[in-house]
Amino acid sequence: MLAGKKVLLGVTGGIAAYQAADLIGLLRSRLVDVRVIMTEAATKFITPLTLETISQHKVTVDMFTGADNSRVEHIALARYADIFLVAPATANFIGKVASGIADDMLTTTFMASNSARGIICPAMNEGMWNNPVVKENTEKLRRHGYRFVEPEYGEMACGGEGWGRLAALSSILQTTLVVAGEVESL
Ligand SMILES: Cc1cc2nc3c(=O)[nH]c(=O)nc-3n(C[C@H](O)[C@H](O)[C@H](O)COP(=O)(O)O)c2cc1C
Repeated sequence: MLAGKKVLLGVTGGIAAYQAADLIGLLRSRLVDVRVIMTEAATKFITPLTLETISQHKVTVDMFTGADNSRVEHIALARYADIFLVAPATANFIGKVASGIADDMLTTTFMASNSARGIICPAMNEGMWNNPVVKENTEKLRRHGYRFVEPEYGEMACGGEGWGRLAALSSILQTTLVVAGEVESL
């Protein structure tokens, strides 16, 4: 059951960032409250204004400017989330989190959250997805309890076909449902 759940959606700077708008719409149609954190790079692909309008909440990008730090916003957001979904997740985001780097609002909030609530949905070029460093990073995060929704095979934004497309939103929703059931017992 997703109705009434609170999902924090992290959006990173990949071409699939435009799909965040539909993902928010899909979650909201299930009566989920969705708040959004974007990386700076993500704002090059889709505007905070679009995601604010669809989520009906202010979108946070910068940790120091615009965030409500009277309540230490990254901790407040981490506490808010029943589920912390990152879609799309770049190779850079995965690498940073796997290395313990928290140098922006998204990675800092993600670091402050329980890994059992985290779902990572990678999307990248096939060469990046097959890179052994990216593989190692994803394995490490899996070992620490993060859930992955595997990217799919299909047409690549950079031309040709390959593995690395963001998973279908229905698959992301399915995993969100599973994790929602599990976090109730946390
Ligand atoms: C047109 C374009 C498309 C990109 N698409 C992706 C992508 O799908 N996946 C990815 O991991 N990086 C992609 N990148 C690279 C990221 O934007 C870059 O690594 C950036 O530093 C990611 O920052 P973030 O993880 O903080 O959002 C793309 C870059 C450009 C210019």
